[in-house]
Amino acid sequence: MGDTIRSAEVSKPPFSVLFVCLGNICRSPAAEAVFTNIVRKRGFESKFKIDSAGTIGYHEGNPADSRMRAAANKRGIEVTSISRPVRPSDFRDFDLILAMDMQNRDDLLSAFERWSQKEKLPKDAYKKVKLMCSYCKKHSETEVPDPYYGGPQGFEKVLDLLEDGCEVLVDNILSDKCQELPIDEGTFSS
Ligand code: 4NP
Repeated sequence: MGDTIRSAEVSKPPFSVLFVCLGNICRSPAAEAVFTNIVRKRGFESKFKIDSAGTIGYHEGNPADSRMRAAANKRGIEVTSISRPVRPSDFRDFDLILAMDMQNRDDLLSAFERWSQKEKLPKDAYKKVKLMCSYCKKHSETEVPDPYYGGPQGFEKVLDLLEDGCEVLVDNILSDKCQELPIDEGTFSS
């Protein structure tokens, strides 16, 4: 009896989310970690593919900035990603691409236009690019500000915005796309 249901569950692809900032060492690795933490707590981690990238490749191969990792750690969030630049296939492989600020969004859209002239990318894939702060409910900021050259409060602000936006984003995705998904066995915690 369960065979049909089970095969339908198995074949459902994970919902994929890519977080993007400039260097992929501060904001987007933190966003990846905050989002992962939320879906893990809700028991849905295996239903998502979550990654982050930078619009520049300058920090490629580096772990996240130690100040960002320390600030996240204080909130019980582990930032583990290694920096990589965005690539054309991201526009094929991800359902949603979250830009931290307007410059990141514009750079993503320009890259998409450039890459589309050289290789086949889904025509509408630029629509996958959204601003992270468009999901914030408790904050009125429109961008996640770059904390790199500032003090510790900048990293706290990044996390405040990300915790707000990611919570709403997860709610939106789950209610739109994954409402019927069973939670991961054994991973649910409140
Ligand atoms: P992110 O922060 O874009 O949030 O990773 C930055 C990281 C590095 C630089 C600027 C911003 N940088 O100039 O190297």
